[in-house]
Parts: sequence; structure tokens; C-alpha cells
Amino acid sequence: MLIRPRRNRKSAGIRDLVQETSLSMNDFIFPMFLTAGKNIKTPIASMPEIFRFSLDNLLTEMAECQELGIKSIALFPHYEESKKDKIASESWNEDGLYCSALRAIKSQFPDLVLMTDVAMDPYSSDGHDGFVENGKILNDETLEILGKMAIAQAKSGADILGPSDMMDGRVGYIRKELDIQGFTDVSIMSYTAKYASAFYGPFRDALDSAPKSGDKKTYQMNPANSREALIEAQLDAQEGADFLMVKPAGAYLDIIKLLKDNSHLPISAYQVSGEYAMIKAASKNGWLDHDKCMIESLLAIKRAGANIILTYFAKQFGQMLKK
Ligand code: PBG
Repeated sequence: MLIRPRRNRKSAGIRDLVQETSLSMNDFIFPMFLTAGKNIKTPIASMPEIFRFSLDNLLTEMAECQELGIKSIALFPHYEESKKDKIASESWNEDGLYCSALRAIKSQFPDLVLMTDVAMDPYSSDGHDGFVENGKILNDETLEILGKMAIAQAKSGADILGPSDMMDGRVGYIRKELDIQGFTDVSIMSYTAKYASAFYGPFRDALDSAPKSGDKKTYQMNPANSREALIEAQLDAQEGADFLMVKPAGAYLDIIKLLKDNSHLPISAYQVSGEYAMIKAASKNGWLDHDKCMIESLLAIKRAGANIILTYFAKQFGQMLKK
């Protein structure tokens, strides 16, 4: 045989030489959950090793994360039911839980890349990402709310805004509002191809943010489709997005590749709560090797074309590297 592919696999040294993809702490954005109160660290049953922190504990946790090499976080707020209403008014309250925390984080960790979530669901009594009227999610009415939320977050020190709501035209709307108010440097990482996925279940437990009625299929994408991801990507790029995101990641590697091949913008992917929970549950049972599956799942996402990965494993990856 003239050609023997196994020659390039014959030793660890040679395997390292021919390795095409590798992971580093620079690749990750760590999603974190914030809740009101003091000295709170509430475990999330379906997401082992992930917690809801009150601000004081969040700051301590972030110092530890920074020590482990985490440079970027995405912050999600958890609100009591009593703070929620139809128009998500708490979402643009500059003195509320979320914006106050953004300011505190930014002043304590000025170099950290601080990403926010722009969507109504944590603040909405309907549990939807948009404004609900007679059972319908209204698009253009939602944009005004997202715009106010975006400005409040930008004022509070956000580096990157992450519109995760899937309303049409939201990237352009938010970009325009930001620019009018002088926030030309605030970036937008659009949840470009966000699917109506069952893998978000544990996240909705974490935030108590599941829809009170109906589902998210009129705004999030159908898992059966790939071509409309190209429409979303084209629109987001035209509307001024700085990054395009695919979500979930593991079951949508083809979509990551599709966007990578069709856009010059950086591509990110969100390894969502359900993807994390699956590896956690199986490894707790001794059915899968935790660290190997963590690495393989992340490598696959990067190999597919995502150079930025939002993952709940970020801290544990850092701990593994330290070992
Ligand atoms: C909602 C939002 C969701 C996630 C991030 N932002 C859930 C949803 O769309 O219902 C999911 C993240 C995860 O599952 O880890 N704006």
C-alpha cells in the first residue's frame, strides 16, 4: 500500500502535528445566572455545577472564573414572578437587578467581556420572548421594548448585546437605537439561527422562564430547516450584526458550517443547557467519561466552524487545564 493514513496517527507527537482544531479558554463565553438577594447560590437540579448567584456571590465566582482564564461571560437574570409583567418593564429599569449587576461587574472586572441577553422572557408574565396579545407574539411592538432594554444594558456597561428573541428586524432596530444614543462601540452578537429546540428545557428551569402558554415556534426556527438560516444570516449581516450565532450547537453542526461558508462574520455557537445536561447525567451514571465527552463535544462545534462557543463547561474546562 502506497498510502497508509494510519502513519499520521502512529504517535501522540505526530497526532498533535496533524491536529487541525484545538480548544483554548479564548474560545469560550461562560453563561451565568443572576438572582436577587444576598449570599445566594442556588443549584439548578438539571444543570449540575451551575448555580443562580446573588450579585455578591456572582462577583466572587467571577474572580475565580477569571483566575481560570475565562475572559467573557453572558449574564442571564432570574426574576421573581412578582417582578414580571406583560411588557417586561423591569427589563429597562436601569436601577433594577440586571442593570445594577452589569455596572458592578464592569467596575470590578473592567477587562472582562460582558455579554447580555436581549429578550423579554425572563421579565415577561407570559414567558415569551416577545409581547403577547390574544395569544399572538407581536413582532413590531416587541422591537420597541427590545430597543429600550438594549439601551439600558448599553448604558450599564455591556460590551456585547445578545438579542435572543428571534423577532424580525431586531438587529437593525437595536443597532439604530444604539447609534442614535451614541453607543456606536457596543457590539451585537445576534442569535441568528435559533431553533425552537427541546434542548432549552434546563435553562427554563434555571430562570423559571418557560412560556405560560403555547410554544416558541412562531419565532424560533423549525429544527427541520437549514435554508432559512441563510436568510436570517443575510438579514443580520445587513442590519449590522458583529457576530452570528447558531443555537443549539451539537445537533446543528451543519448550520454552523453553512453560516461559516456563507458569511465573513465571526460565527459563534451556543452549547445549550440540554446538551450540557445530557453529558452531566450520563457521566454521573458512569455511562460516559465526563472530560472526554466535554472536550469532544466542544471540539466538534469548533471544527464545524464556530470560533466562539457559549458553554456551561467553560469553568470546568479551565479547571481541567489547571490539573
Ligand atoms: C431566551 C433564551 C433561551 C436560552 C437563551 N436565551 C431559552 C429559550 O429560547 O426558551 C437557552 C439557553 C440554554 O438552553 O442554555 N431568550
